Amino acid sequence: MQVGVATAGFQIEGGYNGPGQPANNWATWERTGRVERSGVAIRFWDEPEALLDRAAALGCTSFRLSMEWARCEPAEGRVDDAAIERYRSILAMCHDRGLTPLVSLHHFTHPAWLGDDFWLDLRAPERFAGWVARAIDAVGDLCGDWVTINEPNVLALHSYVTGMFPPGRRLATGHAIRSLDHLVAAHALAYAAIKERQPASKVATNTYAFTAYELDRLIVDLLLHRSRGVTRRQLRGFLEERRREWYRTFPALHARERIVRHYTRSALPLEQVFPRALAAIEAGVERPLDAIQVDYYDPITSNHLRLPGHRTAGGRNWLPGRMLWDDPPDPSGLTRYCRAAAEPGLPMQIVENGLCNRVTAERSHQRSDGWTRPRYLAEHVAALRNAETTGVPITGYWHWTLADNYEWGSYEPRFGIFGVDRSDPQRPRLLETDAMGDDAAAAFRSVLAEVAR
Ligand code: BGC
Repeated sequence: MQVGVATAGFQIEGGYNGPGQPANNWATWERTGRVERSGVAIRFWDEPEALLDRAAALGCTSFRLSMEWARCEPAEGRVDDAAIERYRSILAMCHDRGLTPLVSLHHFTHPAWLGDDFWLDLRAPERFAGWVARAIDAVGDLCGDWVTINEPNVLALHSYVTGMFPPGRRLATGHAIRSLDHLVAAHALAYAAIKERQPASKVATNTYAFTAYELDRLIVDLLLHRSRGVTRRQLRGFLEERRREWYRTFPALHARERIVRHYTRSALPLEQVFPRALAAIEAGVERPLDAIQVDYYDPITSNHLRLPGHRTAGGRNWLPGRMLWDDPPDPSGLTRYCRAAAEPGLPMQIVENGLCNRVTAERSHQRSDGWTRPRYLAEHVAALRNAETTGVPITGYWHWTLADNYEWGSYEPRFGIFGVDRSDPQRPRLLETDAMGDDAAAAFRSVLAEVAR
């Protein structure tokens, strides 16, 4: 099994959205102070060696990173050859350290010049596939494992339902559906573009594990329906049956969950879903997915909602959502989820899984439930092994993440195996422990050394 840590370019590289720097779709929010500035992040762009050395010393056999479209094409039609060269050298550094790269070609960001609502644009799928083709031509000799688009489900949800990502619209369900349609179509086209260039590569898209069918599994079922022998006429019946199965496995545990399901069901009627995605899937190969890629944090969809004013580590939260550092870990849920999500003939990869705690003004808060990273790692890896022993073909585990980084608008949530001292924001300093003071690195080494064999 491959074992690694997962990262994303915008969260670790630094050097975006300032004067003279490449701008992505977070630039306006950063410039207007709506979110904290990403700044130098953890300087991966300037000093990748230090972080890759740490990953290798953890015993990782793989490193998940993203290649940022905004970095490579900072202006329409202008490719930055130096940026491409830099990505090439970073990929070579991975290989030098025995780390097989797993590269995401879109991790929640796109170049600012494509506009805030890029994913609503009818041409978005083709434009994305064009970028993917250029990226593979540029670095394909150094990588053969790809995530086309990271968590299309979360991107659509946060852009157009919760408003947490730019353009920040709330409850715009029509837009959420349309963007998801385009994202799934974009994956199918990107899959074809990669395979044309690299027939032996492994290509997939990951979903954030949710119990609401329409927010998670629906995407995979659409991508797999042809390989399951389902015709366009049979599609609706197939999806309805899959939805029933999903909800048998994940019964609604409380009233809040029932409300969420009712909402997603009425917002995403199966018979209307995804015309562009279906057209792209039908025009391509039978099975545009080489693995089931899962991001596992807290799958109970309604757990992510809370009334404004609820208590949280370090104060009260006035947003309607629960904070990341309050996500309740559920390791046995990982076994259940892997079993439910397994698909005959496809390997499964957990491409993200991690625990958050909060740091405010360099003060680290313990989690209010007392969970630590060493315990989280041990119990989740044990859960993974349980899933494996019941026959789920798990071929990889990537922990989110190597070191505390830019968590979509803020440096308060910390997910790193290594904490980062940001008292001098220009010179973030990597710690030997995680942000809560625990030796998460030792835990990672000991629990994962065995599975890496
Ligand atoms: C995303 C990461 C993010 C992590 C922790 C995932 O949904 O892919 O970019 O940092 O969750 O919130």
